[in-house]
Amino acid sequence: MKIENIKVCAFDAYGTCFDINSAAQKLSDEIGQNWLSFSSTWRTVQLEYTWLRSLMKKYVDFWKITEDSLDFAMRTHKIDIKFKNQLLDLYKKLNAYPELSNCLKYLREKKIKTCILSNGSPALLNELVNHAKVKNLFDDILSVDEIKVYKPNPKVYEMVIKKYKCAPSEVYFMSSNTWDVVGGGVYGFQTCWVDRFGKEFDRLNYQPNKIIKDLSELSKLF
Ligand code: 2OP
Repeated sequence: MKIENIKVCAFDAYGTCFDINSAAQKLSDEIGQNWLSFSSTWRTVQLEYTWLRSLMKKYVDFWKITEDSLDFAMRTHKIDIKFKNQLLDLYKKLNAYPELSNCLKYLREKKIKTCILSNGSPALLNELVNHAKVKNLFDDILSVDEIKVYKPNPKVYEMVIKKYKCAPSEVYFMSSNTWDVVGGGVYGFQTCWVDRFGKEFDRLNYQPNKIIKDLSELSKLF
């Protein structure tokens, strides 16, 4: 049965719309065979820093956190620091997943609003969607930088219902990050886990409404 009564589809950005490993992958010859392990450390520490800074009430924007976590990951994996700026430049231009554009066009045909809801800073997110040529397929880009606190704080998800003047249940939230799916779900969104990486779902006393492998399956839901 198709999903109804949805006002807006909100998409997480990093790992859901954009391939966070594509930066390190493009420099894999220079980084070496452990490039994916390095990229995973970079991502894990980046997220840890968002959570720690939210708890400490010491907000800095996502670009600063991305730089700091990259420095940590490069030192940990003993990667020559001369590649730092190249990796940062590549992070601004992450590959969009191949099915993203068609998924957004499908929702537009169904007259469902689409937005990004992300920890990313506005400048970073604009550069991402412009480089991937999908800017015109999103109705809005919502960045936590407006409220200076990171996901999964409920204030982040509240941004969507304030923007679209709708109930939480009228928002369909998609993320590949299970902790983010839980954050949106316990806030009241309908949720879909984009299980791209075959990981376990977090044990946080919440289960997503739907699980898909990638965004091409969205057309089965709407
Ligand atoms: C986001 O885009 C960090 O993936 C997370 O908000």
